[in-house]
Amino acid sequence: MASGEGGRLRVVVGITGGIAAYKAVALVRLLVLAGHDVSVVATPSALRFVGKPTLEAISRNEVGTDLYEGVAEVRHVALGQAADVIVIAPATANSLAKLAHGLSDDLLGTTVLASSAPLVVAPAMHTEMWENPATVANLALLRERGVRVVGPGTGALTGKDVGAGRMAEPEEILAATLAAVRPQDLAGRRILITAGGTREPLDPVRFLGNRSSGRQGVALAEAARDRGAAVTLVAAHLEVPPPHGVALHQVGTAEELAVAVAGFAAEADAVIMAAAVADYRPAVVADAKLKKEALGEEHELRLIRNPDILRALTSGELAPSRPAGQVVIGFAAETEQDPERILAVAREKAARKGVDFLVLNRVGWAEGFATAENAVTVLDGHGSIVGEAAGDKLSVAHRILDVLV
Ligand code: C5P
Repeated sequence: MASGEGGRLRVVVGITGGIAAYKAVALVRLLVLAGHDVSVVATPSALRFVGKPTLEAISRNEVGTDLYEGVAEVRHVALGQAADVIVIAPATANSLAKLAHGLSDDLLGTTVLASSAPLVVAPAMHTEMWENPATVANLALLRERGVRVVGPGTGALTGKDVGAGRMAEPEEILAATLAAVRPQDLAGRRILITAGGTREPLDPVRFLGNRSSGRQGVALAEAARDRGAAVTLVAAHLEVPPPHGVALHQVGTAEELAVAVAGFAAEADAVIMAAAVADYRPAVVADAKLKKEALGEEHELRLIRNPDILRALTSGELAPSRPAGQVVIGFAAETEQDPERILAVAREKAARKGVDFLVLNRVGWAEGFATAENAVTVLDGHGSIVGEAAGDKLSVAHRILDVLV
């Protein structure tokens, strides 16, 4: 596991001199937005393609280039020693040759040599250079040493050329970088995750909803993906973008979520129900916008109970053919303040829902929902505490997956 705090990683992004360097800016941005601490080390040729101020602004850190800057803080090895992972994007044919032979005549070379962190490279070059026996041999050597190679793809290259050698897209490089540093303990597993808050329509423009932002469910999807799982994310309303590299299925209402879960659960090794599902829906959904002129000063809404999807899943009613040994994790978002009483509520819920694990989080006007941080207690089906986690939602997600594993 990474030495950074919780889910936050220290990532060195090496940028070498190819036109795809402009796309490295997007990679740096994705890493920063995902909450990681990014230090860019750019070769002098990389800086002919993309400006240092751009990289410093996007990475929110100083950009290193020169071996003879920051000598007092021993920068030529410090970055590499502290890194949880190093990713070089783009990696030119020249930089791959240097890496293969351990050359360290620039800050990127010393950083890589001084590091024991996983190394990911995203090659980018013209097809002839990519297919040249020297590059092929260098890459084979790097692969043999455990370097992960992402891409290249086939597509437009510099000028009018089209062919193999186009750098992988930033999202794909991000996924490969995070996967390199996480344990692959969910490899080959299929995990179904629900996230966000359902919306139950009243008329074509209004709905009954809840304050779930989907952040915890999305973080679980990201974390499971990075640990090697094939993830299906059933997303009710999300306030954050869904992660790259998961199969996304969008739903609106609790009933739509039930249909999606019934379908996907038949193929899942684990189901994590992080979505905030409405317990009730309006009895009548108006075809046209409800008018206050017609409703008057007071209007009563009649609500109907939604099915309890989680209960229906564990009882076998929802997806009768679900795999034997499927692990089901439910969530309980509770406002109870007393620590003993909230645990009692969660224990009762774990038993009633028939889950293998229940993730309890306290929610309120200012906690749990829609925030970046979370604090949870994980109970098993008998109500015993098997895990606790607090911090950003990605680290909480990893702790929940530790329990699942
Ligand atoms: O009963 P409560 O809503 O507190 O239970 C929360 C758990 O049950 C969550 O995992 C949620 O996704 C799930 N749930 C469900 N169907 C409902 C209501 C909640 O599956 N109708």
